[in-house]
Amino acid sequence: MSDVNKLDLLKEKHRLAELGGGQSRIERQHAAGKYTARERIERLLDQGTFVELDKFKTHRCADFGMWEKKIYGDGVVTGYGTIDGRQVFVFAQDFTVFGGSLSGAYAEKICKIMDLAMKTGCPVIGLNDSGGARIQEGVVSLAGYADIFLRNTLASGVIPQLSAVMGPCAGGAVYSPAITDFIVMVEHTSYMFITGPEVIKTVTHEEVTKEELGGAMAHNSKSGVAHFSAHDEDHCLDILRELVGFIPPNNASDPPALPPRDDWNKPDPGLDTIVPDNPNKPYDIKDVIKRVVDDGYFFEVHEHFAKNIVIGFARFNGRPAGIVANQPIYLAGCLDIDASIKGARFVRFCDAFNIPLVTLVDVPGFLPGTGQEFAGIIKHGAKLLYAFAEATVPKVTLITRKAYGGAYDVMASKHVRADINYAYPTAEIAVMGPDGAVNIVFRNELAEATDQVLEHKRLVEDYREKFANPYVAAELGYVDEVILPAQTREKICRALEMLKDKQETNPPKKHGNIPL
Ligand code: HXC
Repeated sequence: MSDVNKLDLLKEKHRLAELGGGQSRIERQHAAGKYTARERIERLLDQGTFVELDKFKTHRCADFGMWEKKIYGDGVVTGYGTIDGRQVFVFAQDFTVFGGSLSGAYAEKICKIMDLAMKTGCPVIGLNDSGGARIQEGVVSLAGYADIFLRNTLASGVIPQLSAVMGPCAGGAVYSPAITDFIVMVEHTSYMFITGPEVIKTVTHEEVTKEELGGAMAHNSKSGVAHFSAHDEDHCLDILRELVGFIPPNNASDPPALPPRDDWNKPDPGLDTIVPDNPNKPYDIKDVIKRVVDDGYFFEVHEHFAKNIVIGFARFNGRPAGIVANQPIYLAGCLDIDASIKGARFVRFCDAFNIPLVTLVDVPGFLPGTGQEFAGIIKHGAKLLYAFAEATVPKVTLITRKAYGGAYDVMASKHVRADINYAYPTAEIAVMGPDGAVNIVFRNELAEATDQVLEHKRLVEDYREKFANPYVAAELGYVDEVILPAQTREKICRALEMLKDKQETNPPKKHGNIPL
């Protein structure tokens, strides 16, 4: 064969590999509103930076006529490139090849880039679109999944792992994303379930559509499995790019900072009236967040799940921080099971990746009731407590209004090693709210009072005067400073600047035993 022919042969192999499962399947993918694996990678990465590995790898299965059906790449495109100049490793499952199902060879390709990502300390982004274990490969495919799950687990907390679910993902195809740090789903074209509607109907006789069972909103708002819901695939890829902009490449690096700002110390008088005088009147904590972060820009995570707690990323004077905030407009900002789990996982992510935590507190307590107790609020609420207590990153806390009971302790109080604790003059810090407290402590006095309503009112006012303020905590040093709301941005920026080289460690151990 002449050299020219050899070059042509290579070009032909590239052409075949890039065709995946063939033109008609590519057209079906487009008709369903989906990009192909390669198109997704092109849109995710900086233009022209993608370097593909194992483009010609094929499966080794001979059963069920598979030997005659070999396709270069075997249904997954793997390699590396950059996002805003930062190196990432990426794999994109190709639904046009055997439904993106995973073979032994396919798993080896993913493991190869995961190993490289660990050696070089870079994030891994998985674009998932797969029918799960390749049925024809049997246990080889199951072994391949386990090889990936093991790597997901060992990489957890060392390099960020981000997942997009961009098609119907079943079986093993959902467990790998579940171990990763964040999952983005695309509305109306992506699904996640351990087993689909047909099997459910057979086993439990339950009838459910795949959208209801495992669509983007099912997992964003009900199960909490997914953290972001994208309108379409472009939006999904934008979310991934944005996430990379807030997080460091690995646990030994700092998150990417932008140049310092010149507006960080300007007071904002608008904040002075944002917390209503009436302690029972709700307000939107996101209005506070947006007024204190750089450019008013808050990148919210888990927006549709457990809305009584708000989490997400923002910058203070150029540096990224993770924000955790009670949300008074949902369930009065109470902590319940979902909110505790949502907050705990985010706190642990930030702590693992050196992202400071800014906590805004307005919490009347844990949500009471049999529903919560029977479902294990004690165990789940303890997750958030554990996560805040364990975190060694800089922790800055601001109590805007209520900080009652165990929830006061949990929400990054001084006692669980927050570094700087601020409170507004509107803060109320006590074991419980005035009504509940008066009913318990003054039960006998109330029973004997001639005018019980009047006496209750007097006792509540008395209690409020004694406890519903930040000054008892400030006198004890549990609150470092009572601040004017207008100064919030300046105070948080100053605290984070002071803490930027903070070093704190936990006792050596194999690992803790967070209540799961
Ligand atoms: C081999 C598969 C496949 C699989 C799909 N295909 N899933 N091939 N193994 N797991 C093939 C189909 O034969 C078809 O090939 C092509 O992919 C497209 O599939 P369709 O069914 O035509 O597409 P669609 O109607 O969109 O349905 C997609 C789907 C469905 C919902 C994913 O295919 C499906 O339910 N697949 C099985 C899912 C599943 O149960 N997987 C195993 C999970 S167990 P042609 O040639 O016609 O294009 C598992 C174990 C791991 O993963 C456990 C670890 C914890």
